Amino acid sequence: MVELLLPKNSRPTKGKVWPKPKAKNLREFSIYRYDPDEKNNPRIDRYFVDVDDCGPMVLDGLLWIKNNIDPTLTLRRSCREGICGSCAMNIDGLNTLACTKGMDEIEGIIKIYPLPHMPVVKDLVTDLSKFYAQHRLIEPWLQTKTPTPGTEWLQSHKDREKLDGLYECILCACCSTSCPSYWWNGDRYLGPAILLQAYRWLMDSRDEATEERLDNIEDPFRLYRCHTIMNCTNTCPKGLNPAEAIAEIKKLMIERRV
Ligand code: SF4
Ligand code: SF4
Ligand code: FES
Repeated sequence: MVELLLPKNSRPTKGKVWPKPKAKNLREFSIYRYDPDEKNNPRIDRYFVDVDDCGPMVLDGLLWIKNNIDPTLTLRRSCREGICGSCAMNIDGLNTLACTKGMDEIEGIIKIYPLPHMPVVKDLVTDLSKFYAQHRLIEPWLQTKTPTPGTEWLQSHKDREKLDGLYECILCACCSTSCPSYWWNGDRYLGPAILLQAYRWLMDSRDEATEERLDNIEDPFRLYRCHTIMNCTNTCPKGLNPAEAIAEIKKLMIERRV
């Protein structure tokens, strides 16, 4: 069996146990901390949250810690209702959104890490530049050749329905960062999120760049590194199915050859 070892300076060490607040109902959080300016290994800090003084979601707990115990704890968030995708992180072993994950869905200590296999900027904030560059590469906007109509591009209800299960993607990167193929080949494989986005434009009845879009992703790495492991679909906090979208793109590739 292959044994994979993390580089020495990436292994988390035991961190600080922060003082327990005086409260009746406490919930323990164990959180990955890393500050590139400190030149130390990452560490795991432990905190205790007064759940009677805080909202019910994991994000509420993190913000309570930030506001009441340790203002240096760094994370991203914006909408706090599962729309912006900013608060994606690994919670209790699963990539998900901190703002839609209830503390009551987790038994025992609430363990939180940044999204896996991405460079860490600080604590729970990962660098998603590569992910966004890959999104740009699929040209995620409507492309047409016929002259622009005077009013708007029309779409029938039936055609609009073909975008269901695709347009809801919030680009949180939970799926791509759970995909082993993306872990190993993320510089060349586009990953489930970006391929689901690519399929969204391929399915749009108003778009007229289908052939160019297929040419752009027909590549042994960009598309064909998906091995149907299904982690992506299992983890998507919006209940989408990127693995199916990838399979449908592969079908389109075959159909255009016939
Ligand atoms: S498919 Fe789901 S997990 Fe992947 S980026 Fe979109 S919303 Fe996030
Ligand atoms: S189905 Fe494909 S994209 Fe999804 S996790 Fe597996 S290899 Fe990655
Ligand atoms: S804060 Fe926007 S999705 Fe969680």
